[in-house]
Amino acid sequence: METKALYQERRSVNYFDENKPLSKSTLEEIINLAVLAPSAFNLQPWRIIAAESKEAKEKLKALSNNQSKVAEAPVTLIIVGNKNGWDESNPVWEEMLQSVGNNTDMVDGAKQAAAFLYGSNEERSLKFAESNAGLLAMSIMIAAKELGVDSHPMSGIDFEGIHKAFTLQPYETVVMTIALGYVDHSKTLYPKRPRRGFNDILTVV
Ligand SMILES: Cc1cc2nc3c(=O)[nH]c(=O)nc-3n(C[C@H](O)[C@H](O)[C@H](O)COP(=O)(O)O)c2cc1C
Repeated sequence: METKALYQERRSVNYFDENKPLSKSTLEEIINLAVLAPSAFNLQPWRIIAAESKEAKEKLKALSNNQSKVAEAPVTLIIVGNKNGWDESNPVWEEMLQSVGNNTDMVDGAKQAAAFLYGSNEERSLKFAESNAGLLAMSIMIAAKELGVDSHPMSGIDFEGIHKAFTLQPYETVVMTIALGYVDHSKTLYPKRPRRGFNDILTVV
């Protein structure tokens, strides 16, 4: 699909065809395209939980203000940000070291910078996790659309409840959820609403 059309035609789909599953290979392709999203120092401070079983989706739906699309979609993703994604435990540092010819000074400098920028207080850690994982989320929706898969992002959810019910780590944060599947063509989506544009939102300084 042409990139412009991807942006113009993506919708938040409220009605999913419950009889149309999402194949594992399609989900894999979506995720492997989406992870090409940029992230700070390429640290990729995120992971994804795919709620696919009836039990998992019902549990998630109950923690999503009972939004029915959570369970009607073949899969609903929980986008998880890692507030500690800047620290030593991130395997990306090792890959970075190899990719710069074992230049330890360079990687140590990057680690120090990241520790300050993203780990020196809670607000920075949360911004780090949410901004990067937010880009991943958009990337997932665009990759999905390219492959003919519809999506719906959600933050009308019980973030803490999901954190607990899906046993996330204390350093992890629920960023949003995304229902994925195929639109139910028997139902009508509300029309796409206009956006505030260039003249409304841009200030040139
Ligand atoms: C971060 C985020 C959270 C959202 N949360 C919800 C939600 O919980 N429930 C819902 O029905 N729509 C939710 N939406 C969908 C928006 O209402 C929708 O994107 C907006 O109205 C524009 O419609 P469109 O995506 O079809 O262009 C969310 C969208 C975003 C980006």
